[in-house]
Amino acid sequence: QQQKSAYIEQIKALLKQHNAVLVAHYYTDPEIQALAEETGGCVADSLEMARFGAEHPADTLVICGVRFMGETAKILSPEKTVLMPTLEATCSLDLGCPEKAFSEFCDAHPDHTVVVYANTSAAVKARADWVVTSSIALEIVEHLDSEDKKIIWGPDRHLGSYIAEQTGAEMLMWQGACIVHDEFKANAMRELKAQNPGAAVLVHPESPANVVALADAVGSTSQLIQASQDMQNDTFIVATDKGIFYKMQQLAPNKTFIEAPTGGNGATCKSCAHCPWMAMNGLKAIESALSDSDKSTHEVFVDNELAKKAMIPLERMLNFAK
Ligand code: 13P
Ligand code: SF4
Repeated sequence: QQQKSAYIEQIKALLKQHNAVLVAHYYTDPEIQALAEETGGCVADSLEMARFGAEHPADTLVICGVRFMGETAKILSPEKTVLMPTLEATCSLDLGCPEKAFSEFCDAHPDHTVVVYANTSAAVKARADWVVTSSIALEIVEHLDSEDKKIIWGPDRHLGSYIAEQTGAEMLMWQGACIVHDEFKANAMRELKAQNPGAAVLVHPESPANVVALADAVGSTSQLIQASQDMQNDTFIVATDKGIFYKMQQLAPNKTFIEAPTGGNGATCKSCAHCPWMAMNGLKAIESALSDSDKSTHEVFVDNELAKKAMIPLERMLNFAK
């Protein structure tokens, strides 16, 4: 605890010294979320993180999340220094969608509009017509469908299926998945619901379709947090990364939040739903990102040509979301 407090004080001083700001995702550890808020940064979903980073006047953005979030921040703010606690924090969706194979998939269907999830590399974004996050994907696909566009969707197959089902859009799907959300189990969820009859079920759409089918509300992290405040229930079963519980509890301290089961006989797995890459963000690593003279393990760079291409679908999303 003493060590943690020391890191927190050092980080506060370094943020001032570098005119830097923390931009944290809801899946990071509670102490990081609290520090981001306390120091004038933000805790947000992927879309809000992108917007906050692009609009904030700081010289340096410290992105506490995973690699694609750092790259997005750098693409949108090439003039800023973008640091991450570790550049090794990746995402199974990004890993499962290599640019070359995805490009070949797109090339085989040249009459399709390419829509990619934000959880992708800069190179995959550069190949896309649109980038979306889970909070805006439905509206953007609805818009494209209303123009009779045929869509290539990548990489998350569960989010893609959910959107195709909701909109009726014709979508060719890349078969990627999030290793965290893919683990939620419908049978165990049914049992947990039966044990908690008054509970509302909140599900992130990266979860399998049979889990989404049990939801009372489906949405991005910020939409699920909003639902947990708006809905009258006292208890919620939450199918997303457990990092989100910090904000939910903070905003609705009298409500009870239960982790959705990730497997086995209705038993909840107390710490399974946590992204191993989000977990790499720690106070020590943030302090190092700001204080190390050698920034090679922290500073995000995106190739100029790629960044220019990726900027187009990213800005399209931000303008659409205004
Ligand atoms: P959102 O915060 O946009 O819902 O994204 C979830 C996610 O998986 C980030 O890794
Ligand atoms: Fe990727 Fe899933 Fe981790 Fe989000 S929670 S960063 S989608 S692996």
